[in-house]
Amino acid sequence: MAKKTVRNEDNDISLIGDKLGFEGKEAYNLLRTNILYAVKRKERSARVIGVTSSVHGEGKSLTSINLAHSIAESGRKVLLIECDMRLPTLRKKLGQKKFAGLSNLLAGVDEEGEVLRQNVGAQGLDVIFAGKAPPNPSELLASHAFSRLIEKVENYYSFIILDLPPVCEVSDALIVSKLTDGMIMVVRQDYSRSTDLDYAMRQLEYVDAKVLGFVYNGAESKTKRYKYKYRYGKGYSSKS
Ligand SMILES: Nc1ncnc2c1ncn2[C@@H]1O[C@H](COP(=O)(O)OP(=O)(O)O)[C@@H](O)[C@H]1O
Ligand SMILES: [Mg+2]
Repeated sequence: MAKKTVRNEDNDISLIGDKLGFEGKEAYNLLRTNILYAVKRKERSARVIGVTSSVHGEGKSLTSINLAHSIAESGRKVLLIECDMRLPTLRKKLGQKKFAGLSNLLAGVDEEGEVLRQNVGAQGLDVIFAGKAPPNPSELLASHAFSRLIEKVENYYSFIILDLPPVCEVSDALIVSKLTDGMIMVVRQDYSRSTDLDYAMRQLEYVDAKVLGFVYNGAESKTKRYKYKYRYGKGYSSKS
């Protein structure tokens, strides 16, 4: 199916956190609840969730922020890490100024304290933005520096949400999946092709990634009163 024109990012701010309407908020709260059940609590360590999709523009970043926001609102400490260093959008979505981020930290240019933004848009929601576009994003995510970062921050948070690049376009999400407790696949209605999703699912299977479920983004509800409908579950079939 042909791709829809992606909505202008200037509108993003109205789709995030407190700006979301009741129905949208409820959908993300439901996603939060499902994840709380799907991934067991670990002692003294955060649950690490990767958010990916087949292709870009399906709503990974939007889902990552709103999920992180919903978790923070439930009183848990959450760290959102923008791992898509090729197409970073979180800073703009969250209306933040430019500053150093993950790439600067992994390249050894900046320290954690300099890249960690605290209480962004909600109490208990900390963010590490992508930072300056690096020449080698895949290498940075595959580096020991990245796995050491996750190991370290795991001690301070209940949840770590990784906003990852899309599976069909680069290998980053597959590499990083090893560090997660599970992955969420975002599928945007009338956007990606089923062959892309098939390919992405096979790639995730090859690396033994645990796919927790799917977020069906942008679906029309039956009543058409709201435009968010997030379906969550393991119901993927390559024939569907
Ligand atoms: N459910 C939705 N309703 C309206 N706009 C959406 C929805 N999901 C995503 N978008 C818009 O589509 C664009 C791409 O979303 P984004 O989360 O940045 O995708 P990704 O991170 O997967 O590349 C953004 O401008 C975002 O605001
Ligand atoms: Mg994104």
